[in-house]
Amino acid sequence: MSFVVIEGGEGVGKGTLMEGLKHHFEDAVFTREPGGTPMAEEIRDCNLRPRQESVAPDTELLLMFAARAQHLAQRIRPALNQGQLVISDRFTDSSYAYQGVARGLGAEKVELLEQFVQGDLRPDLVVVLDLDPLEGQSRIRDRAEGLDRLDAETLQFHQAVRQAFLSRAERFPDRYFVVDAAQSPDRVLEQVIGVIEGLS
Ligand code: TMP
Repeated sequence: MSFVVIEGGEGVGKGTLMEGLKHHFEDAVFTREPGGTPMAEEIRDCNLRPRQESVAPDTELLLMFAARAQHLAQRIRPALNQGQLVISDRFTDSSYAYQGVARGLGAEKVELLEQFVQGDLRPDLVVVLDLDPLEGQSRIRDRAEGLDRLDAETLQFHQAVRQAFLSRAERFPDRYFVVDAAQSPDRVLEQVIGVIEGLS
């Protein structure tokens, strides 16, 4: 019935939060972007894998939206139509922050694709986990799976991503909830559960 998105930079604790939410909202549909269907996961791998060839920012953006179109058609819209609560680890705000701002493509291209791929569909709530990227980077340094193409970007890139999420939250205060991700995982979880429960 509601579409909730969890956003934030690298190492802010989205994974831990998603696990906590899974225990609390047992009947909800949990998914992630880019990905969420077998084909969208293939597009994710193609887009995020480190490679020798340099990737044009437009290519990166289009692949994010190609994965999103598939995810919406196969997973998100059907679940919402059945009245389910859908909780996605990232969605279009990441395209605004990473491609629009940090890659410098500008908001207009993202808006164009958002309209094309989503029509009128927008999340009911976007939770932004906010953390200093220096702290985030130190949290992900030891990750077993290694860094993807975007994790490996500069600190300046990740600072731009953080500011982009915060300015979208300021611009649309009714739909956004910013959480201080430097707090303990339990405190973060408690606050996010509270705001999701407040939706219905
Ligand atoms: P994550 O699952 O570890 O958060 O990794 C996904 C990466 O993809 C992360 O670096 C953010 C990036 N991303 C974009 O750049 N644009 C997008 O639209 C989405 C959904 C993710």
